[in-house]
Amino acid sequence: MTLDLTAILDEIGAEMAAATDRGKVASYIPELACIDPARFGMAVCLPDGQVFTTGDAQEPFSIQSISKVFTLAMALGRMGDQFWDRVSREPSGQAFNSILQLEHHKGIPRNPFVNAGAIATTDAALAGHAPSEFLGELLQFIRTAAGDDSIFINEKVAKSEEATGDLNRALAYFMAAHGNMANPVPLALGAYFHQCAVEMSCAQLARAALFLTELPDGPRLVSAARRRRINAMMMLCGHYDASGDFAYRVGLPGKSGVGGGIMVVAPQHAGIAVWSPGLNGQGNSKLGTAAVEMLVRATGWSVF
Ligand code: DON
Repeated sequence: MTLDLTAILDEIGAEMAAATDRGKVASYIPELACIDPARFGMAVCLPDGQVFTTGDAQEPFSIQSISKVFTLAMALGRMGDQFWDRVSREPSGQAFNSILQLEHHKGIPRNPFVNAGAIATTDAALAGHAPSEFLGELLQFIRTAAGDDSIFINEKVAKSEEATGDLNRALAYFMAAHGNMANPVPLALGAYFHQCAVEMSCAQLARAALFLTELPDGPRLVSAARRRRINAMMMLCGHYDASGDFAYRVGLPGKSGVGGGIMVVAPQHAGIAVWSPGLNGQGNSKLGTAAVEMLVRATGWSVF
């Protein structure tokens, strides 16, 4: 059966444009609070590079926690399986910025996608390099995956997060007290705040997601074994305490960000990205989740 992705995306775009309950835009990072909740974009990239879009799919937005997927790939590249001595790989069932489990687990975060785990991951990926070198490499990785050099960091967003980042500082110092930070906390956090401030469009993110597909002609930035493991982490932990709900409704590995984006991998079919700035109670895009659910229902791309 050939899928009419243009028609499917048109239908999703129309339904999302008409939605009235759009969730709440993140306000704890002031630069993100001013984004219009009416924005909506979605893109699907096939392995041959064809991109299907609807709405504001070419508009760059703050990728925030979606960046954690790219830094995980980098940290695993630097440290191999030793990385897992520093970060567990279990769902947390807690909010993305929770500190609760860090105390129970003596400074070892539950997984690489909760904030504590992501900060430890960035710390590992730094591997003694200056933050600017790390950020240069991260941008290179993302640009290569997306096949597009016009991807940048929004300095205002990074500064905005730095100015309000005390909870992340608390997480990082807690880990440092348990010997789980290799770099000085301000240095690792500077890198983390900047990685979260990378801006990409849905079209760029959908193409970047292809590096995690199993498709024979997809880009090969990481080994097959590593792809499978990153996808497993996305499926189990990519939406924090709503990961079960996302797996139930969508059935694909996905990673959300408080900018309202979600990057999704359909391992045998495509890279997918969606953006709708309004969030649900767990800090994930409300309409974005609904849109991917609709796409999977229409395409049958769930892995289950
Ligand atoms: O560290 C933070 O709080 C943000 N830079 C990223 C959090 C985030 O995107 C959570 N995901 N939905």
